[in-house]
Amino acid sequence: MNDIDRRSFVTSTTGSMLAYALLDVIFAREAFADDVKPILVKWLRDLNEMSIDAKKGTLSQTDWQKSVDQLFGQVELPELLKLIDFQRIEKKGPLADVGARSYRFAFGKIDGVTDRLVFGQQIFGLKKDRSVVPHGHENMVTAFLILKGDFHGRHYDRFEGDKTYSIIKPTIDDTFTVGGHSTISDVKDNVHWFKATSDGSYILNIHVLGVDKANREPTGRVYLDPNGEKLSDGRIRAPRISYEQAHKLYG
Ligand SMILES: [Fe+2]
Repeated sequence: MNDIDRRSFVTSTTGSMLAYALLDVIFAREAFADDVKPILVKWLRDLNEMSIDAKKGTLSQTDWQKSVDQLFGQVELPELLKLIDFQRIEKKGPLADVGARSYRFAFGKIDGVTDRLVFGQQIFGLKKDRSVVPHGHENMVTAFLILKGDFHGRHYDRFEGDKTYSIIKPTIDDTFTVGGHSTISDVKDNVHWFKATSDGSYILNIHVLGVDKANREPTGRVYLDPNGEKLSDGRIRAPRISYEQAHKLYG
């Protein structure tokens, strides 16, 4: 199918701005069918509603985690995931030799969905044995959804600490494949670390900033070394490390 045929195919089959908004970014054009559109629209709307509520404080951070995990666990999602055009993503730049490559994208204007989504999004791409290095967050709820490939995923609760360390405790240590998902909040599973176990592996990341008005800490990453001093009850005294150290050790 040439470009002009493809354009008319897309326009005639979806008849909306949706075609250009998404297909130009990450979705495979030929595969995009009308029966998938309502699933995507509902998915984005639900995710946005939950995220607005989390930001307003009417949905607790842990309830946002439960709701998002439930949404990501819906059976339609694997069908939606098959439509993502990874070659198109790869054309934006090669995967990194160390750590993850972040691909920024916008969902754009979609009929039935606000163009002012409250959550941010990006896709991480990784070579085999490379990691989204261990880190925690402040004043943020965030979620990972595996789009392609296999991962070893680990989470930790994060407790007290200061600028030099955090006390953490393992909560999740599992294999993740397509459709697998996990979430983070200030109070539950705050640290994550995902190592790709297959080449060309991808994660969708959704994040909502500013979910705790009382938290004045910056929302950037807090890099930690989980291989710290072992304490009682499975807790670990994890040193805070730099971006460079985190990537040297675990990237
Ligand atoms: Fe993160």
